[in-house]
Amino acid sequence: MLKISNLHARYGSSHILHGIDLTVGAGECVALLGRNGMGKTTLIRCLFGLLKPDDGTIQIHDQDMTAAPVHKIAQAGLALVPENREIFPNLTVAENLTMAARTGALPKPEGQQPWTLEKTLAVFPRLAERLSHMGNQLSGGEQQMLAIGRALMTNPDLLVLDEATEGLAPLIRKEIWAMISDIRATGIAVLIIDKELDRLLELSDRAVIIEKGRVVYSGDAHELSGKPDIHHRHLGV
Ligand SMILES: Nc1ncnc2c1ncn2[C@@H]1O[C@H](COP(=O)(O)OP(=O)(O)OP(=O)(O)O)[C@@H](O)[C@H]1O
Ligand SMILES: [Mg+2]
Repeated sequence: MLKISNLHARYGSSHILHGIDLTVGAGECVALLGRNGMGKTTLIRCLFGLLKPDDGTIQIHDQDMTAAPVHKIAQAGLALVPENREIFPNLTVAENLTMAARTGALPKPEGQQPWTLEKTLAVFPRLAERLSHMGNQLSGGEQQMLAIGRALMTNPDLLVLDEATEGLAPLIRKEIWAMISDIRATGIAVLIIDKELDRLLELSDRAVIIEKGRVVYSGDAHELSGKPDIHHRHLGV
């Protein structure tokens, strides 16, 4: 459902992405790996129309969406949980969620259950308890749950998470991994970045490692778990 081909991008004169190829199939979970500063977030920014690529193409459901604005990307079925969460601090949890529902993807084919407020709150019971709290009254973990819930409310086919659990306490991280696993089970495709390599590879079907803006490994996620030499060489762990 997503096909990125030969993507190049730069910030001013620094050339950051050097011809990235990456695909995500329907319902597939792909881990995007790479050390700090290798271009993961830059790739995500290109994907959501937040940075214009220099060259290359982005296709969503076989339609060319290269450099399309973010609302078109959402309508095509992609939703982003950004690195810094970007929830609205002065809106309530309920408002943050229902606002997203209005900006989301086009109606789904018959038979597919949309993400209603009820369905989203069933995945995130903590949010159900905090519906009238303001965004800025939430803990980091609750903010991340809200960011994921908000993305789901747009009814995506592909959920993109940039640093799914970064900065959160171990117990909350565990909760978030379980929730992402439940979300996957509903059939949504996932493209995910995180530093918790073991959990990430356990969850994912495929892994792609980028180094200095180039893909240096692409393969089965579970196979990568058993290749410590590759972890060492490309991930520094
Ligand atoms: N707004 C910007 N202007 C100029 N350079 C930038 C900007 N944002 C990122 N960079 C540079 O682009 C490169 C890739 O950064 P990017 O944020 O994509 O890395 P990343 O793989 O997401 O890293 P991290 O794991 O730390 O999140 C880095 O060298 C970074 O310093
Ligand atoms: Mg990043």
